[in-house]
Amino acid sequence: MKKLSMCILALGLIFASSCENEENSTELQNLENQEEITATQRKCYSAEMLEKQLSENPEMAKKLVEIEEKSRNFSENDLKAPNGTIGIPVIVHVIYRTNRQNISNAQIQSQIDVLNKDFTATNSDVSQVPNEFAGRVANANFRFTLQQVTRKQSSRRSWGTRNRMKFASRGGVDAIDPSRNLNIWVCNIGGGILGYAQFPGGNPATDGVVVSPQYFGDRGFVSAPFDEGRTATHEVGHWLNLRHIWGDGNCSRDDFVSDTPVSSAPNYGCPRYPTVRCGSNDMTMNYMDYVDDRCMYMFSNGQKNRMRALFSSGGARESFL
Ligand code: ARG
Ligand code: ZN
Ligand code: CA
Repeated sequence: MKKLSMCILALGLIFASSCENEENSTELQNLENQEEITATQRKCYSAEMLEKQLSENPEMAKKLVEIEEKSRNFSENDLKAPNGTIGIPVIVHVIYRTNRQNISNAQIQSQIDVLNKDFTATNSDVSQVPNEFAGRVANANFRFTLQQVTRKQSSRRSWGTRNRMKFASRGGVDAIDPSRNLNIWVCNIGGGILGYAQFPGGNPATDGVVVSPQYFGDRGFVSAPFDEGRTATHEVGHWLNLRHIWGDGNCSRDDFVSDTPVSSAPNYGCPRYPTVRCGSNDMTMNYMDYVDDRCMYMFSNGQKNRMRALFSSGGARESFL
C-alpha cells in the first residue's frame, strides 16, 4: 500500500513535468482565435487534467491508489475477468457553432463503428502489426452502442480543456448518468487539441471524453491525418485507465502494462518499424502512442487486462455491468 501510494504520487509528478512546457494560460487565450485549426502535434491534456484534479482533491489520490491496486491484483493473479463482451452505452453531446460542426448522425455512427472494431481487434489494419508484436494483439471485447445524441447550438468558438462543455450552467450540456453511460462531448476544443479524457476515479459530473468534431468518426467533417476515428479510441483508452505507452516519461517510467515495451517519448506521424528506444522496439502502432490515425491499430493483452480490471468486483466502472 505504502509503495503504491508513492507510486501514484510519483505519477502526479511525472504528469506535471511532462506537461510543464505547455503554457496553459496563453494556451487558453489563444483558443479564442483558433477555430478549427488543424492539429499538428498531440498534447497531454488527459494527463494534465488528472494532475489538476489530484492537486485540487486529495481524496482522489486515495481512490487512484485503490484502482491501481485492483488493476495489479487483477493482472498478477489473473482474477476472473467479467466474462465475454462488456457493453458500453454511449451518449454523444454535439455542441456546435457552425453548421459543419453540427456533425451528422452518419458521422457519429461511424465513430461508434470504429470503436467497436478497434476494441475487438476487428479493424482491417490490425494485419499490419509486425510479427514481434502480433501475439500481443488483444480483442478487448467491448461493445459500444449509441444510446442518445443531444445537440446544442452555442456562439462559443472554442471550449478549452476545463470541462466547461460538461455543464449546462456554463453553456454546455450536463452528463447523463455517467455511472452507466460513456458521455462524449463533441465540440471545438481549440488550440490544436484533438481530444481529452477523464481517467476513472474522478468527479462523475465530468466523467467521459471530449473530441473536436473534425477528429470524430471517419467520414463527414473530418480532417487528415486524424480522420479515422482513432482520437476517440485513444481517449476511451484513457477513460478505461490506460496511460500513454511511453509512461509520460523517460525509459524508467512505466505505463503499468508489462507487454508494452518501455519507451522514452511519444512517436508522431507514421514511424517506420523498427523504431528503437530504450534498447527495444517501440510499439508505435499502439493506440496509446501519438502517431497518425492510420498508423495506430492495436491494444495489447496487458492493456486489455488493465481496462477490464475496472469492471471486476469493486472496480471503478463496475456499475456498467
Ligand atoms: N489527447 C491527444 C491529443 O489531443 C489525442 C491523440 C490522439 N491521436 C490520434 N492519432 N488521433 O492530441
Ligand atoms: Zn492521451
Ligand atoms: Ca510497459
